[in-house]
Amino acid sequence: MKDFRNKVIVITGAASGIGRATALAFAREGAKLHLTDINRERIEAVAAEVRALRAEATAYVVDSSDRAAMEKFAADVYTNAGRVDVLHNNAGIGAGARFEEISLEHWERIIAVNLWGVIHGIHFFLPRMIAQGGGGHIVNTASGAGLCGLPGLGHYTATKFAVVGLSEVMNMELQRHGIFTTALCPGIINTNIIQESLFQETDEAQQKKNQAVSFYDRFGAGPEGVARDVLKAVRKRRAVQVSPGFHLYPIWYCKRLSVGLYQALGRMAAKKLV
Ligand code: NAI
Repeated sequence: MKDFRNKVIVITGAASGIGRATALAFAREGAKLHLTDINRERIEAVAAEVRALRAEATAYVVDSSDRAAMEKFAADVYTNAGRVDVLHNNAGIGAGARFEEISLEHWERIIAVNLWGVIHGIHFFLPRMIAQGGGGHIVNTASGAGLCGLPGLGHYTATKFAVVGLSEVMNMELQRHGIFTTALCPGIINTNIIQESLFQETDEAQQKKNQAVSFYDRFGAGPEGVARDVLKAVRKRRAVQVSPGFHLYPIWYCKRLSVGLYQALGRMAAKKLV
């Protein structure tokens, strides 16, 4: 897909960060946006920003982890728009903890949002996208942590590896319908992700969270660059899109070159980080 004018674009978790920036980037190309989030006020504000760019936007309050809500959302989009050209399963939450301290509640929540949220998007939209004909594109937001395991992010990493894996298979299976899939793997992006992340309530965990917030503030790239890379990935039908490349290529290539070396570096990082 090269031209996004009048294309119908669905983005989940679009009230902030990468989702918002991507919505605005598609809006500048003249697309028609259908945007969800759990935060009503913020998603309506983003829809207003899209309209200020003279593009169409409809805001929906939908929790991606809620099966019934996602089923209704897909039905509503098809009632309102009749088709979907790009589905971006983007809603997600972060989390940080040592493995032995991850509560089952945090395991359940992160799998519910980061993995089930993506599965719900695929399950309720894909059959309709196939049936409408004419092809399309699905972007699943994974992470650099979906390509390389990172110490202190065990449960987050598990969900993002799953998203990369299912995206890889989708991109192989769905080409016969003209539907392409990208696993979007952002690096360190300065958004609300850390403030909203699941950390334990202990003083130590909260201190680590605060440190992570300042690290992302200082060193994080802006979400606008990721948004540009999303549009590029759709145009070029990329199976995996890292963004920005310099955050991830060094460690990803290191792991592909030698898993042993990657493990050794990871263990050193774990001593410092975890
Ligand atoms: P963000 O926190 O700025 O935006 C995430 C949005 O998703 C928020 O508006 C939030 O309200 C919404 N959301 C959370 N749970 C939801 C649910 N159950 N249903 C619907 N909406 C929900 O964070 P950011 O950074 O823009 O994150 C977007 C995606 O990018 C996530 O999947 C995240 O894991 C991924 N990512 C982010 C990175 C970063 O460094 N910021 C790095 C790699 C991946």
